[in-house]
Amino acid sequence: MSTLKKVLVDKNKSCKSIWFMRQAGRYLPEFKKIRSENQNFIKLCLDSKLSSEITLQPIKRFNLDSAIIFSDILMTPYALGQEVKFIKNQGPELSKFNLEKFLDNNERRFSEKLNPVYKSIEVTRKNLSRDKSLIAFVGAPWTLLVYMLNFKKNKNDLDLNKLYKNNIHIKKILDKLIKFLYIHIKNQISAGADVVQIFDSWAGLIPHKNIKDYCFIPNAKLIELCKKEKIPNICFPKGIKKKYQEFNRIVKSDGINLDYEIDPTWAKNNLKNVVIQGGLDPKVLLKSEKEMFKGATKYIEAFKDIPYIFNLGHGLLPETDPDRVRKLIEFYRNY
Ligand code: CP3
Repeated sequence: MSTLKKVLVDKNKSCKSIWFMRQAGRYLPEFKKIRSENQNFIKLCLDSKLSSEITLQPIKRFNLDSAIIFSDILMTPYALGQEVKFIKNQGPELSKFNLEKFLDNNERRFSEKLNPVYKSIEVTRKNLSRDKSLIAFVGAPWTLLVYMLNFKKNKNDLDLNKLYKNNIHIKKILDKLIKFLYIHIKNQISAGADVVQIFDSWAGLIPHKNIKDYCFIPNAKLIELCKKEKIPNICFPKGIKKKYQEFNRIVKSDGINLDYEIDPTWAKNNLKNVVIQGGLDPKVLLKSEKEMFKGATKYIEAFKDIPYIFNLGHGLLPETDPDRVRKLIEFYRNY
């Protein structure tokens, strides 16, 4: 069994496990080289051979305990018929959302379009040692909707006018997304993934009165499915502050990833019956070594008596020096 599962499922607190969100791609020179030769990002995700190679890059370099498949949460809207482009230094851009076309999607076509992702999981599983987990992931319905309907006004704000204008359709869209995410999760498990993480990266933008319908319930439905499939699962409801507690009570995932705004001692005292993962601000990897180790120590100490998976409070940043990542892993393992 992988160390990730030993912590996540067996709740073995003396077993240590470490991996990083966004460990594949973004900052590694060996990724950047492949990326520079592959201008179309979606096409790269659909190249099973290259995607598997990228997935294994951080494992080869750092011997991390788990691999996360190189893909993207936006592969779901892509497979549901929206065009997805990544503009350099600007992020993703999706073609205009069409409700009728969206509701008209069929399951077989959806799976077919994502088949290369499943193939990549199969190939990766064969090349990954048995004592390491292969993590599959999806974007949570709300976070996908934010991109699909182009709901963001700027980096951290929602266009509330758009939200209110579309309010009557939102639940319908979320329900349909849940249906397709079920399929995507199931297919990734069948292909060989043995842990699933759900990224609700924009949960923090949801107005208070909608948090249950737009975040808690959709995540809970996906976790219910994971449990039915007996697959260990982790949620990441980024930015919801103290609502982490209610999220945890309702969703009941095996693991919960802290974001960097959550105080680790608060988390330890208030998040019960769940394995805690992550929390460390990825920005500390850009600071001095001393500051990085100090930051890491805060998390290691806070969780030393309970099961804990070392990780970050958001993904590794593109400007991270790989040598820093190596040093952080060494520090954690020698602690
Ligand atoms: O952990 C891994 O590295 C595995 C692969 C992975 C990618 N995206 C590859 C990627 C994972 C797990 C994701 C998840 C993802 N994608 C999230 C959730 C995590 C988070 O950061 O909150 C979100 C919100 C996205 C959507 C997305 N994809 C954005 C906003 C961007 C552009 C900026 C960025 O993050 O780099 C992407 C593109 C993307 N996805 C890249 C990579 C390696 C960079 C593509 C490039 O080189 O241009």
